[in-house]
Amino acid sequence: MKPVKVGLCGLGTVGSGTVNVMTRNAQEIAARAGCDIVIEHIGARRDNPVCSTGDIRVSRDIFEVVQDPSIDIVVELIGGTTTAKELVLAAIRNGKHVVTANKALIAEFGNEVFQEAHAKGVSVAFEAAVAGGIPIIKAIREGLAGNRIEWLAGIINGTGNFILSEMRDRGRDFADALKDAQNLGYAEADPTFDVEGIDAAHKLVILASMAFGMPLQFEKVFTEGISRVSAADVAYADELGYRIKHLGIARQTAKGVELRVHPTLVPYKRLLANVDGVMNAVLVKSDAVGPTLYYGAGAGAEATASAVVADVVDLARTLTVEAKQRVPHLGVQADNLSELPV
Ligand code: HSE
Repeated sequence: MKPVKVGLCGLGTVGSGTVNVMTRNAQEIAARAGCDIVIEHIGARRDNPVCSTGDIRVSRDIFEVVQDPSIDIVVELIGGTTTAKELVLAAIRNGKHVVTANKALIAEFGNEVFQEAHAKGVSVAFEAAVAGGIPIIKAIREGLAGNRIEWLAGIINGTGNFILSEMRDRGRDFADALKDAQNLGYAEADPTFDVEGIDAAHKLVILASMAFGMPLQFEKVFTEGISRVSAADVAYADELGYRIKHLGIARQTAKGVELRVHPTLVPYKRLLANVDGVMNAVLVKSDAVGPTLYYGAGAGAEATASAVVADVVDLARTLTVEAKQRVPHLGVQADNLSELPV
């Protein structure tokens, strides 16, 4: 079986995490995909010391990756909407499948990108664009496919949740906590996107389009961030039995789908009130299954890379016929457990 060849654009936090995960877990990934998946070509303006690119071809001009005839899947991890949009459209026009973690691109230009992809018969996968490592896109698209979704509400910005948790649990100052989130690789290149709710609004629009089958309408989201939440607000909420959480909410109403992101008082016993740090959680209320909750790391190099690689594996499966109906064989044998490890 021929290996599937990936061209990776961007070696920042998520790009380097993706190289590391794909290198470390190459055997498991190949078993699940039904073929080897190799990073053949990287496009990055500079190297990143946290990952080794070994023998992989590296170009300083990222467009060389999308022009490389050997590449099957282009992974766009450069962020932003200008060059990223040109790059993704060029990849599609060259007949490449695309994987992206770029929520701004999907939320603001997704309608155009998907139209181009449809015309060229290629796929654009974006699991990593929402809620970091949580497979929420696949959960809504596949797991809840038989349901009518009534509403969803979630903590979908890791940086904001990290800041609010640090303010409450350690009495940290907003600016200090933000600096930590930046150092930990959680925040956007422009952290205004995190603290003013723009990043959460991008993600909410994507979730709503999956859940309700509606076009991506970023301009319709009511958006308020956490930049005006003070230490006193957090303390008063606590005294009254609430946690301040920045939520994204999409709800089917008689007039259409309501879309809003804003700080919310959540009673302290509720599940979402207890989601702390960089963790994200999305609660989905559907008619057949009822409420379901999805929880996990919402930002960070390898958590986000996990979702990027999942999309690459999914696409690789569609490129390899025999992989479609198989279970991965990793040579692991069953054991008689005398004690459960829990
Ligand atoms: N800045 C984003 C966040 C990164 O903090 O959630 C993951 O999308």
